[in-house]
Amino acid sequence: MVFMTRILKNINIRWLTIYLPDEALKFTFTYKRRSDMKLFRYFFILIFILTNGCTKAPEKTVTESKMEKFVQGLLEKMTLEEKIGQLSLFTSDWGTTGPSIRKDYVDLIKSGRAGAIFNAYTVDYVRSLQKIAVEETRLHIPLMFGYDVIHGHRTIFPVPLAQASSWDIESIRRSEEIAAMEATAEGINWTFAPMVDISREPRWGRVVEGAGEDNWLGSLIAAARVRGFQGTDLSNERTLLACVKHFAAYGAPQAGRDYNTVDMSQRSLFEWYLPPYKAALDAGAGSIMTSFNEIAGIPSSSNKWLLTDLLRGTWKFDGFVVSDYNSITELIAHGVAADSAQAGELAMNAGLDMDMQGSIYLNNLAALIKAGKVREESVNKAVKLILTAKYKLGLFDDPYKYCSKKREKDEIMTPENLSFARKFAANSCVLLKNNNKTLPIKRGIKSIAVIGPLADSREDMLGSWSAAGQWEKCVTLVEGIKNKAGDNIKVLTAKGCNVNDDDRTGFSKAVSVAAQSDFIVLALGESRDMSGEAASRTDISIPGVQMEMVKEILKTRKPCAVVLFNGRPLTISELDKTAPAILEAWFGGTESGNAIADVLFGDINPSGKITLSFPINTGQIPVFYNCKNTGRPVNPLFPNDKYKSRYIDCPNTPLYPFGYGLSYTTFSYSDISLNKSAFQRNDTIIASADITNTGDRDGEEIAQLYVRDLVGDVTRPVKELKGFQKLFIRKGETVRVKFKITAGDLSYYHQDMSFTFDPGDFELFIGTSSADNRMTPFRITP
Ligand code: NOJ
Repeated sequence: MVFMTRILKNINIRWLTIYLPDEALKFTFTYKRRSDMKLFRYFFILIFILTNGCTKAPEKTVTESKMEKFVQGLLEKMTLEEKIGQLSLFTSDWGTTGPSIRKDYVDLIKSGRAGAIFNAYTVDYVRSLQKIAVEETRLHIPLMFGYDVIHGHRTIFPVPLAQASSWDIESIRRSEEIAAMEATAEGINWTFAPMVDISREPRWGRVVEGAGEDNWLGSLIAAARVRGFQGTDLSNERTLLACVKHFAAYGAPQAGRDYNTVDMSQRSLFEWYLPPYKAALDAGAGSIMTSFNEIAGIPSSSNKWLLTDLLRGTWKFDGFVVSDYNSITELIAHGVAADSAQAGELAMNAGLDMDMQGSIYLNNLAALIKAGKVREESVNKAVKLILTAKYKLGLFDDPYKYCSKKREKDEIMTPENLSFARKFAANSCVLLKNNNKTLPIKRGIKSIAVIGPLADSREDMLGSWSAAGQWEKCVTLVEGIKNKAGDNIKVLTAKGCNVNDDDRTGFSKAVSVAAQSDFIVLALGESRDMSGEAASRTDISIPGVQMEMVKEILKTRKPCAVVLFNGRPLTISELDKTAPAILEAWFGGTESGNAIADVLFGDINPSGKITLSFPINTGQIPVFYNCKNTGRPVNPLFPNDKYKSRYIDCPNTPLYPFGYGLSYTTFSYSDISLNKSAFQRNDTIIASADITNTGDRDGEEIAQLYVRDLVGDVTRPVKELKGFQKLFIRKGETVRVKFKITAGDLSYYHQDMSFTFDPGDFELFIGTSSADNRMTPFRITP
């Protein structure tokens, strides 16, 4: 029995309401005098102590109790085989003829031995699989349908790293809301997103899926994505169950090689890598996926500390845990399990509820229970969590609720969704360089050359993990520019070379097209498959002979802007020295070409800022803004002092730092001040600054607040982001920006791993990027 009380008051009457949620019972007493109420309360507290002990149970609503009752009732009817089925997830396939599923998996569904399917979408197809589960199995338990809806479903938005560059939390949320609407209109009810892995490793191809290097910004984005997918009501037919991934620290593989070993201090794990997972769970994410990597010798899929002690114990997560693709089986290759039976035992006992694609649970759990190596209670717990998720999705009320032909027809790639995608892609662009106002392109020009392997490459615009995005529907840069140019500007095009080989035969045409034009746009970068899963690179420069082609074209001395397409920071020092303008466009999704043209022609003033540092060269990696000072920091007045923490062949700082990005206008910061110079521990610190738009057009600025704790119990970073605001400022206008932080925001993990803050001296920075060093000191007194 769970006991709780709620007291409601109004002017004349008082109520004491006692809920007994397990039994879905509620007693309400009305009373006049306070002393009567006390009597009632003491009476029930006495009963509670006698029947339940003193532990305080969480508050539950009547609806939750109904759900628990339903799930428990169903569990009691299930055979062990059916229970294990609920813990087993299998893939569907997608070929040229459309979706299909392996015969064995259909048999598993029929016998109640598959609980969920992924990679299956489109209404008729999902309906056909659901029908098998609902009509042909003994208990009629519906399937859940998962898919990697990462940056849009059919309407594809910019890749997540690009989205993060917009620093536009509301648009990020909205993009997931649209993604959820489109995906649920095609039968999906569970997304393997958000990916919230913090990474300082641009060699790692999966940085494209994340929010960059900063845990504070990453946490805001993680939570926004969950809110976007799940909304406020999971049973709504337009919302999806989110799955936070990859738990944990998948973004820190040694040497940037995908799936590689992760080894870090407990402090780094807690301080830098765990916060976004926690933020996503706090925002209500209903599931979480384990990562492929090990941390300090323990693979995540068998890490009991991670999956049970931390996740369930400390964080109180009550959703379910799913493995990554085959990651339970991979415990054998990791060398912690001798065979699949031991892999299953380790994973289940660690707290991993659902096996993606491995069949390890399916083939081993029953025997493991029989042998006493796994408790049936552990399986029951996992099954209940999965049935609960299905219940919350409303699948027991209507297993076909995500299978509406009408919604499939009406709600996908709507003009509204496409228009949002276009704006979002433009706002995700980052202007990295713009000498002599090369951009925006002047309307008076007569001709423009659009050159490069990515100029007209439709498929690449989607970026990696493009769900059900249709490359045929993507707008290329050439098309975007043609749409914008109309009849007044002649658009000439040449591919020049391929993305990644040494064919130079197209150079001469490219140079001739460039020579005939008033303005040159060079579309360079990586192809979409050069970032993403299993796409790590040791050399992250612009591949192939693209840079050679650039040199030839720049000889024409025509005004020229480079548009970069890539899923990670690239090493572009040479380009930065030679190209007059560089616009980072990432992979912008379906509306890429139109969005970039909006920016190139100045209809949209770029406002994005990078969230992952662009190194000067790969030898600098990892290079990130929130690093430590070391005992031998470089003195800026004597940068060549020898015995300092520095390279002899390269600066310590990156080419472009975290938070950097230009606009077609300029902003200046002045009068940075604090409400006081000394604070007490409970005070609110209000920092403000004037920001003036000093240029000749309206624009948006992302003003950033950083703090440095000068003396800590352990060493502290030279700067930490603690706030930002994206502000629209008209030309000539000055706005006063205000940030509020409390002393609690300055907490960190001490030597004993307590998370508190220390009074003392701090430095505060308000500026245009992490490299903006206008400093204001403040003190917090004990
Ligand atoms: C492997 C990837 O690591 C993960 O992110 C993805 O969700 C699954 N495959 C399913 O596609």
